[in-house]
Amino acid sequence: MHRGTSYGPCHYKIGAGDEVITTPMTFIATANTVEYCGATPVFVDVEPETGNMDASLLEKAITPRTKAIIPVHLYGQMCDMKKIREIADKHKLIVIEDAAHCVEGVRDGIRPGQLSDMVCYSFYATKNLACGEGGAITCNDAAMHEWLLKARQHGMSKSAADRYSVRYQHYDMEFLGFKYNLSNIAASLLIHQLDRLGGYLDQKEAIAKQFDEGFAANPFVRKPAVLPASVHARHLYTIWVDPAKRDQYMHQLQEAGLGVAVNFRALHLMHFYTSKYGYKRGDFPVSEKMGDSTITLPFYPRLSQEEVNYIIQTVNTTVTA
Ligand SMILES: Cc1ncc(COP(=O)(O)O)c(C=O)c1O
Repeated sequence: MHRGTSYGPCHYKIGAGDEVITTPMTFIATANTVEYCGATPVFVDVEPETGNMDASLLEKAITPRTKAIIPVHLYGQMCDMKKIREIADKHKLIVIEDAAHCVEGVRDGIRPGQLSDMVCYSFYATKNLACGEGGAITCNDAAMHEWLLKARQHGMSKSAADRYSVRYQHYDMEFLGFKYNLSNIAASLLIHQLDRLGGYLDQKEAIAKQFDEGFAANPFVRKPAVLPASVHARHLYTIWVDPAKRDQYMHQLQEAGLGVAVNFRALHLMHFYTSKYGYKRGDFPVSEKMGDSTITLPFYPRLSQEEVNYIIQTVNTTVTA
């Protein structure tokens, strides 16, 4: 958010010496953002049923240096935002949601953005709302919003629209910003998808139901729990298999033509984080086990019935004793 003073009047001052709490069961981008600020990512383990931040571990990880919490709504299922907000308020911390998987999610009647200070979304090619690359930040604070509008365009006081739409206006450079604006071309791809999100989600929900039923009798296929009375954004459909055989299964599934993936191997065990912070196996055992067991299956709205049947059949004949 803020390195030294050159980034201007951003009032979320997170920099060297500060800590930001997140989980290791996420894409590397989540913790890397903390590194970019010069701050230290601190991990708490995840719930074994969902892979989401285990809010009961949060307070133990908070120190006088903690500035923010980044809950990750893994695969599209929301974290326990009520509990996380309560703890954040008690310790006066900022909450920034990583909703890269969760545009559509709802839990306890709460949607992303309702109980946090900011939400980060991703529009990367695989996401439910996608334009190839890019993302968005939403926030509840007018001053932060104004800072973001400038920060995304080099710290300029006027955008191109401000400068040219009526009479030319000069811009100033108020602080050292970035070049992180989404292009209008990318935005034009996104805008029409907004209306279709509900329909895509219904289609993915129906496919998830078939997968659930198709794997129900296979004791070697386990999967994350879906919480009752919630809306799962259904970004990814993952299964958990025997960690000793996971890679072998992956290769067999690939050979059978399935586009499988791993989301994610535990982040604290990546070379950068082990070598910088000395993390080792055993530090976050739930995330590690999940990272060793997980396989992501092909899962998109336009899968044909034949493809859905083939995925179920191939997984059940591959993932066996
Ligand atoms: C959980 C999570 N957070 C953050 C990101 C980063 O998004 P982007 O690729 O748009 O930088 C991703 C991307 O795939 C993700 O899965």
